[in-house]
Amino acid sequence: MKILFVLGRNVELSKAEIFSYFEKNQMNIKKFDLQRNALVIETDSKINFNKIIKELGGTTSVGEVYCSGGLEDVFEYVDKNEIYMESEPKFIYSILNFAGRSASEKLYSIIKNKFKRERLRGVFKRVRKTIEKQDKTFAIGSPTKISKMDKTYFIFKGKEYHFGIIKGVCDSKEIEMRDMEKPVRRAELAISPRLSKILINLSQVKRNGVLLDPFCGIGTILQEALLQNINVIGIDLDESAINGAKKNVFWLNKRYNIKSDYTISCGDSRKARLKIVDGVATEPSLGVLLKRIPDYRKANKMIYEFENLIVDVLNNIKKFIKKGGKISFTAPTIKTQKKRISCDIKKICKATGLAVYSLKNINFPIKEYREDHIVGREIFVLIDI
Ligand SMILES: C[S@@+](CC[C@H](N)C(=O)[O-])C[C@H]1O[C@@H](n2cnc3c(N)ncnc32)[C@H](O)[C@@H]1O
Repeated sequence: MKILFVLGRNVELSKAEIFSYFEKNQMNIKKFDLQRNALVIETDSKINFNKIIKELGGTTSVGEVYCSGGLEDVFEYVDKNEIYMESEPKFIYSILNFAGRSASEKLYSIIKNKFKRERLRGVFKRVRKTIEKQDKTFAIGSPTKISKMDKTYFIFKGKEYHFGIIKGVCDSKEIEMRDMEKPVRRAELAISPRLSKILINLSQVKRNGVLLDPFCGIGTILQEALLQNINVIGIDLDESAINGAKKNVFWLNKRYNIKSDYTISCGDSRKARLKIVDGVATEPSLGVLLKRIPDYRKANKMIYEFENLIVDVLNNIKKFIKKGGKISFTAPTIKTQKKRISCDIKKICKATGLAVYSLKNINFPIKEYREDHIVGREIFVLIDI
């Protein structure tokens, strides 16, 4: 089968997350095609659309491809086959267009005439939602909901054309509610649920596995992992953050009836002794909050301190990670008057004996910042070799 993924504002990171998700779930990728912020993957594996859209952080909607080929093949398919399977004759439909204006206009007219012929009262609604990508350009957004009454078709032009229907949409209201209503928030330091999910998927820890966050703060990554039935261990140096993480997880537990285990404790991840874990997803301290562009020396010092911290922590925790376990983490990249400076990953790998994970078709680090951000993030995945 072929699946369409409508990607969020960081296309490269969203793509890496999907490839990692497929790898961890032993789902094969026979072919893929990326255009703008949409990715089509061909696989032999079965897809649970509701599950996949809940578990991915960087995808805004997923759809099933009904037909692929040349443009005329797609038009013929649409004209000759049933594309609306409900009994209710009145409904609203939209078309997500990843194929250029003329293809989508022709498709619209074929669908409109077809529905008329079939005596269906489909009312067309334009998808107005757009998203601002990391590079500040705009891309097509996903519908806010889908139901029996709202159908969203798509047309995609890559190496060939694909036509299909959206089957799952990210429930961003629910995610926002989870983030805003948890008892303890720490806006300036906390990571978003979206990026937390991405790091979890990059770590490839599976359901019922154990994930470690050695810089857990108030526990956002832990919460997102628990929601995926992953057991978690969280450590942080800051006692008040740990109390916050415990309150947040307790709240989550009551609200979502979590079944997985969690251990959250105050400690120094440079020397903590741990249980064996399957992988790590974390956002270490990226340094002091910078309101102005720092001079080169200050930025260099921050990067140097980060490198020392991450090396010490990795050298300690790698003893507790199962063979093949992956460590996904964010690292700072700092804008200075001269140039942006980032961590020296070769130095980190040399000092820890770890290697940058080679995920097929993906190159780490992946940027997660805008050029105007003073401190941005780079995302890495390491593995013990
Ligand atoms: C960027 S914050 C993590 C935010 C977290 N993801 C959240 O959702 O709140 C980094 C955390 O690392 C903790 N930290 C710094 N050095 C540490 C160490 N050596 N061991 C454990 N935690 C440490 C800090 O106390 C801080 O809470």
